[in-house]
Amino acid sequence: MARNFRIAPSILSANFAKLGDEVDKVLRAGADIVHFDVMDNHYVPNLTIGPLVCEALKKHGVTAPIDVHLMVKPVDRIIPDFAKAGATYITFHPEASEHVDRTIALIRECGCKPGLVFNPATPLDVLEYTLDKLVMVLLMSVNPGFGGQKFIPYVLDKARKVRQMIDARGLDVSLEIDGGVGPANIREVAQAGVDTFVAGSAVFGAAKDSDPNRYDTVIGALRAELAKA
Ligand code: DX5
Ligand code: ZN
Repeated sequence: MARNFRIAPSILSANFAKLGDEVDKVLRAGADIVHFDVMDNHYVPNLTIGPLVCEALKKHGVTAPIDVHLMVKPVDRIIPDFAKAGATYITFHPEASEHVDRTIALIRECGCKPGLVFNPATPLDVLEYTLDKLVMVLLMSVNPGFGGQKFIPYVLDKARKVRQMIDARGLDVSLEIDGGVGPANIREVAQAGVDTFVAGSAVFGAAKDSDPNRYDTVIGALRAELAKA
């Protein structure tokens, strides 16, 4: 399958005390996108990072796209802040916004690329009206809130469905997956039609802090599997 595959390490599993350095290293090792998980201890039972950290990464010199995954409710208030902080993509969960169409428009007005995120058990019905307005569809293959969980296999079926919808309409929309992805399953996920792969613990948990090339091995392993897809 000749898709343009992209690897998006989730900094949720990075060493936050050395974040700029971690991001530099993972990008140097060949990652394409920085996946930035925003959690509010309300929509999901965990609390992470906000626009200040996004801005700090930009000021540090990160030029790769920043993929802001909002696990917050409500979403609209924080979108302009992330746009100002340098977000490239902003994705949100439809059930976290009272007005999904308005939120998509707001992300575009702010100059960012909008995407919708679906939890494992959330139906895809809103895509019927929104797919042509999106740049990305993100399928959760774990329940959101934590890194290091196990991939939920039924999401592969969902990926095939979304791929079919995108292709049937001839749209240029990315299909991204998030949760439990690593060298052991990335090939199967790619074969289901996914083109953008979030990996947190598989990348940042892969090797010892003392190994200077620690991310080359794992990103290389992910790419090698993708080459066989
Ligand atoms: C979970 C986050 C993910 C998380 C994935 O709510 O959205 O991005 O970091 O972590 P892994 O790859 O460890 O499952
Ligand atoms: Zn995420």
